[in-house]
Amino acid sequence: MTESVPVDSTSTEAWKQLEGVADGFSPDLRGWFAADPERAAKYTFQAADLTVDLSKSFLTEEILGLLVQLARDTDVAGRYDAMIRGEHINVTENRAVLHTALRRPKNGEGLVPPAGFVVDGQDVDADVHATLDKVYAFAEKVRSGEWKGVTGKRIETVVNIGIGGSDLGPVMVYEALKPYVQAGIECRFVSNIDPSDIYEKTEGLDPETTLFIVASKTFGTLETLTNARLARQWLWERLAASTAIGDSDDERTGAVAKHFVAVSTALDKVAAFGIDPENAFGFWDWVGGRYSVDSAIGTSVVIAIGPENWQQFLAGFHAIDEHMRTTPLEQNVPVLMGMLNVWYSNFLKAQSHAVLPYAQYLHRFPAYLQQLTMESNGKSVRWDGSPVSTDTGEIFWGEPGTNGQHAFYQLIHQGTRLIPADFIAVANPAHALKDFSGDGAAVEPGQDVHALFMANFFAQTKALAFGKTADEVRAEGTAEAVVPARVFSGNRPTTSILAPALTPSVVGQLIALYEHIVFTEGTIWGIDSFDQWGVELGKQLALQVAPAVDGDAETLAAQDSSTRALIARYLELRGA
Ligand code: F6P
Repeated sequence: MTESVPVDSTSTEAWKQLEGVADGFSPDLRGWFAADPERAAKYTFQAADLTVDLSKSFLTEEILGLLVQLARDTDVAGRYDAMIRGEHINVTENRAVLHTALRRPKNGEGLVPPAGFVVDGQDVDADVHATLDKVYAFAEKVRSGEWKGVTGKRIETVVNIGIGGSDLGPVMVYEALKPYVQAGIECRFVSNIDPSDIYEKTEGLDPETTLFIVASKTFGTLETLTNARLARQWLWERLAASTAIGDSDDERTGAVAKHFVAVSTALDKVAAFGIDPENAFGFWDWVGGRYSVDSAIGTSVVIAIGPENWQQFLAGFHAIDEHMRTTPLEQNVPVLMGMLNVWYSNFLKAQSHAVLPYAQYLHRFPAYLQQLTMESNGKSVRWDGSPVSTDTGEIFWGEPGTNGQHAFYQLIHQGTRLIPADFIAVANPAHALKDFSGDGAAVEPGQDVHALFMANFFAQTKALAFGKTADEVRAEGTAEAVVPARVFSGNRPTTSILAPALTPSVVGQLIALYEHIVFTEGTIWGIDSFDQWGVELGKQLALQVAPAVDGDAETLAAQDSSTRALIARYLELRGA
């Protein structure tokens, strides 16, 4: 079953009323908090382990009511239900969208849809768990040392070769869960077709203890296949250099069998590359690349952190899926955050959205979210092909705090643009270090450094919300001429997300939260958040242009004058 004609959200009564509220909207966070001592409690919500405070955002009861009404008018809940049941809501590719099925517990009771549900003839749960079991068994072999390289040594380094969703998810989660990584196993991630990437990532590695995972949904991605060939070449050359293998086909094939595995939906192409299908882990076309971190695409991470932690990771996703499915819209965190983003971007004309993790281990989370949000919702037509009637997509960016504070926060605090920001932190750090010296002034000896870190987290959202008035600046004895430069307007909206610790479950929860925020926004805009046609033209043209860049005069002559001149200059600089 395919999707019906999307509701044009801009034609709804709620949209019109929101436009009315936005017209001349003048937020007053100081006033709102002063007038309502319950404001923080009223707008703080719990989703699994995530405490989400929306009170420093531009919400009032009227706005919240209208946003929830808009979510109702566009049937966010009904479409979510259709998604998890396997309807083909990825219309342009005529596919189901079932990443939520990747994390359903085995033989779970009370599941919706019920355990064993069938989509397009496939028993989804059975296939998901059969693959998980295969990944777990393989991961255990690598972790225990039972899996040996061609010379009988255990694996010490796992190199994941993939790009986009086949890279950003695994690398982000690996970094986030570093404290859970088994000693003696390191993962590296190669993505870019710039040869410097694979050069650097293989630098210093021992081929006898290195395992490559070629991760590609389609197994047709130029970057990944090129890097996989370079890795295979590297393996053969290095093993031959130490006389571990000779150069016969059999020996080379034997080396690949011990040092290469693959993750893909295209197992025929995996075999054609020379990887034994026994050493390949599948998934299905109903998992979008950017929604695939919890599929077999995460095999590198399963090896690193182990199956038990991976199960916790999946349980975290599922907890948020259940929150999304069962919580009334008024308290439904992904829906509220998604609707708030619509309020900021469509009505208040915010041009971008910062995501600022106060957890160093989440340093790749903003990059991960860029693909999730922008590849999903950067569209100009709706799922029925009609043009969208409002702006879509959000530009996500960010860096971990406190680093960002010393870089771009100036613009968030005092610039002219509205930049809603999500602040994400955990209460219990992996390493609770203390500063036993102190600084003789503000920092006492014995200071808990994470507490100091978190003081920044709390202070930033406070400063952004409430600012500093000219009178407050003057009261500090500031010279009048400098007062304007030192005023903070406040009324800069933030969302604070606080979790107990950066556990595998919490990382899963955070990812699922943003997946469903993206879903909510996509539904409001009426777009297919699960295709990515916008990446295709560049890929096609790269292949068309490639001969010219390699010196083919005829292809070069056929280019437009700018491209021709640039390629000619490149060839000149390469000395060609
Ligand atoms: O080019 C975009 C894209 O298709 C992403 O959607 C995807 O995550 C990435 O390329 C990698 O694709 P694959 O896993 O098929 O190699």
